[in-house]
Amino acid sequence: MKKPTLCVGLVCVDVVAETEGFPVEDTDQRIPDLSYRRGGNASNSSTVLAQLGMKSEFLGTLTNSMQLDFIREDFSKHCVTIEQCPIFPVCEFPTSIVIISTINGTRTILHHPKNLPELDIQHFSNLDLTNYSWIHFEGRSTNIDNIKQMIRTVRERLEYMKISVEIEKARPVLDELLPLADVVFVSKEYAYFSGFRTMKEAVEGFLDVTKPGTIVVCAWGSEGAAAGQNGTVVSQSACPPVQIVDTLGAGDTFNAAFIYSQVNLWDWEKGLEFACQIAGNKIGQKGFLGIG
Ligand code: ADP
Ligand code: FRU
Repeated sequence: MKKPTLCVGLVCVDVVAETEGFPVEDTDQRIPDLSYRRGGNASNSSTVLAQLGMKSEFLGTLTNSMQLDFIREDFSKHCVTIEQCPIFPVCEFPTSIVIISTINGTRTILHHPKNLPELDIQHFSNLDLTNYSWIHFEGRSTNIDNIKQMIRTVRERLEYMKISVEIEKARPVLDELLPLADVVFVSKEYAYFSGFRTMKEAVEGFLDVTKPGTIVVCAWGSEGAAAGQNGTVVSQSACPPVQIVDTLGAGDTFNAAFIYSQVNLWDWEKGLEFACQIAGNKIGQKGFLGIG
């Protein structure tokens, strides 16, 4: 079996309200379901990697609040290890209020970071990096210097290690991560923000600012995704399920499935197809359990 993958980034609490259609402002209504879930991009991707059969580890900050047991148990239920995560005293977990419309599965996210410190280079420096097969970083504008240092540390210690980064939010500082990884995931939001109007245009444009050999991958919601390397760009249609029930974490799922394909040395065109298939599975079900 391969060594574990490591996903570095955020874990948060998602308070998920399922509504029949998007709610009308200033109304009071009973809803079909309400649940607490573990969320955060890197946390979700680590979950999907484990569900696909990888050994999977997550690294991010935790806090000794009343939600810690829930977070720990949920990682354990999904077979993700978290032994190296620093635990801060007396803070709160970042929290999202998520509204999922049961009519079309859209998710609307309202996020607050609360007061939990970000991961810093000291937490990362203690890791034995030879334990991993792949290291994935969630690009976070609020922690950019530490993330750059972490990537530098990997490069200095282990030349062969493959690194992916996710650039999702429309924040200019995230540009700095583009030249640093072997696989770069750019979101539609970030592509739009950078002036691109199609997924292929985005992949072509970002390939120009990454290092030679980098694979750039860009998911585009219901239209599917595109990827490219060394001037070749390919697009792939989405694989929608019969009914879309829950799109929360579709992008994180897509990224994890693509990482899975690369850890297993598939070519990236096949990886792109697989990522769209697994993302399609995800949006047809609630949560991530049994997604493969
Ligand atoms: P997110 O908004 O969660 O970051 P994206 O919208 O970029 O995720 O979607 C990631 C992948 O999930 C897409 O490439 C596609 O394969 C799949 N997907 C997402 N939304 C839909 C949809 N409405 N219909 C079909 N596939 C979808
Ligand atoms: C989904 C997600 C949620 C979380 C939010 C944070 O991609 O990770 O689980 O609430 O995004 O931005």
